[in-house]
Amino acid sequence: MRFATKAIRVGQKPDSDYRAVVNPIYQTSTFGWNSLAEVPPVDYTRCANPNRHILEQVIAALENGRFCTVFASGMAAITAAGSLAKAGDHVLVASDIYGGTFRLKERVWPLQGIECDEFDASDPASLEAAIRPNTRLVVYESPTNPILRVVDVAAIAEVCRRRGVVSVFDNTFASPFLQNPLDLGVDVVVHSNTKYINGHSDVIGGCTVTNDPEIGTAMFEWLKMTGAAPSPFDCWLTLRGLKTLEVRMERHCSNAQMLAERLERHPKVRRVHYPGLPSHPDHELAKRQMRSFGAMMAIEVGSSAEDAARVAEGFQVVQLAESLGGVESLVAYPPLMSHATMTEEQRLERGIPPNLLRLSVGIEDPDDLLEDFDRALSRI
Ligand SMILES: Cc1ncc(COP(=O)(O)O)c(C=O)c1O
Repeated sequence: MRFATKAIRVGQKPDSDYRAVVNPIYQTSTFGWNSLAEVPPVDYTRCANPNRHILEQVIAALENGRFCTVFASGMAAITAAGSLAKAGDHVLVASDIYGGTFRLKERVWPLQGIECDEFDASDPASLEAAIRPNTRLVVYESPTNPILRVVDVAAIAEVCRRRGVVSVFDNTFASPFLQNPLDLGVDVVVHSNTKYINGHSDVIGGCTVTNDPEIGTAMFEWLKMTGAAPSPFDCWLTLRGLKTLEVRMERHCSNAQMLAERLERHPKVRRVHYPGLPSHPDHELAKRQMRSFGAMMAIEVGSSAEDAARVAEGFQVVQLAESLGGVESLVAYPPLMSHATMTEEQRLERGIPPNLLRLSVGIEDPDDLLEDFDRALSRI
């Protein structure tokens, strides 16, 4: 089966009682036993639930992985992957990383006795030098947040493999439609299902996917022990969204490419960060590594934070909000949203100037988006 068919068919067959084509929502905390001699296939929803299992099978199939565990949020999934490191271990986190992962590295993992450092994911040689004898995990993502650098996923995974370090890759920005990091040698893929996988901005969720049976078991055990399980209804909604991932991504990507090309010529836009533009520093790598260029972009508007605020507040179609990956276009201001924990200096080091806006391009009519950008940009 190919991608779009897997999303619709894997693990999904008419239910046994009524042959409902869409699986029912098993909104139950517990399942009955016939007798004490026969342990039921699912017994208690924190540990097992049909809606979660179907979703796990589909995500595993789309990521070309064997073991998927679905969690109550993307952060719960990243925390689960982080549990592979223990006190005394060393963890390397890419310097250009989602703000929530940055917070785990700054505030949570050190309290557990884990030493944390950053590395520059755009330079696999710097990773080589940063690995220590006790380095257990390397955590990275691509395209990066918010300035959309594309890193060589396979080159970093290869360094990790050679040095006996587990690689953890956050594939949220690309979605399984645009790249499959396990095929590039990564050990554990994580997603915020909240974003493209669900795609409708109405669920918080996450997952881990791996081909390693030991890691797969560890992720499931972590879910069971910490209780970070999603509800059956959230799994059902996520699966409903996931079925249309391919068609959504095609439209997301074509809208984003069109918008990036137009904004690059706009007099009020100083710079467009989008891997689909030949002017992007990683365009060639993105062409090799990704099936298309995605729908996340960042733009530098005018010259100041005030200019960015005027534009961000001037849209009628695009919504000012955190998050990404839903059908609706969103604009975010990283210094007050995803990257609020960082100091101005830390943001500047990562190439995040005060006039930068991050865009999650939705699947609206492209002409409505173009008109909306002209409207918002006319305010500066
Ligand atoms: C790249 C990335 N990873 C992880 C997360 C965390 O996901 P969640 O909000 O579902 O916990 C986010 C949330 O914005 C994200 O953008």
